[in-house]
Amino acid sequence: MTHLSTKKLQEARSRLRLIEAFGKLEGTKTVENLQEAFADEAQDHVKYMCAAQMASAEGYPDVAALFEEASAEELVHAKKNLQYLSGIRIGLTERNIQDAIKGETKANKIDYPEMARAAEDEGFAEIAEWFEALVKTEGKHAQWFKEALQTLGEG
Ligand SMILES: [Fe+2]
Ligand SMILES: [Fe+2]
Repeated sequence: MTHLSTKKLQEARSRLRLIEAFGKLEGTKTVENLQEAFADEAQDHVKYMCAAQMASAEGYPDVAALFEEASAEELVHAKKNLQYLSGIRIGLTERNIQDAIKGETKANKIDYPEMARAAEDEGFAEIAEWFEALVKTEGKHAQWFKEALQTLGEG
């Protein structure tokens, strides 16, 4: 047996374990916690990336490096939480694309239009404009994924 096929076998086993674990996790507090942890870690990753840029611009290279390193670790944490959370989905590209279409469509049709309206109502014209721009971009993303879904398997 070659090294490559051993590695593939290990990956398949690990995926199977995730599928089994997810079955047991469904509907539990732990799934809720994984969702919360995923969101928090993903947010921290982006926040720390921005904080690093800010620190660098303000002339604190050591602090910038610290934020960068923490940001990189939070990304690893976010990915691991996501892996536990959606082990049954990772690797199944068709399902991932369908998920993406759902999320992008909701952002395009519901979330950002409502947010733009609220910002407008509350007198935040610039933020309303920003949300409107996001309506368009997320609509574009939804379209990309719809096209990808159609061409999947044509390959
Ligand atoms: Fe973390
Ligand atoms: Fe998007």
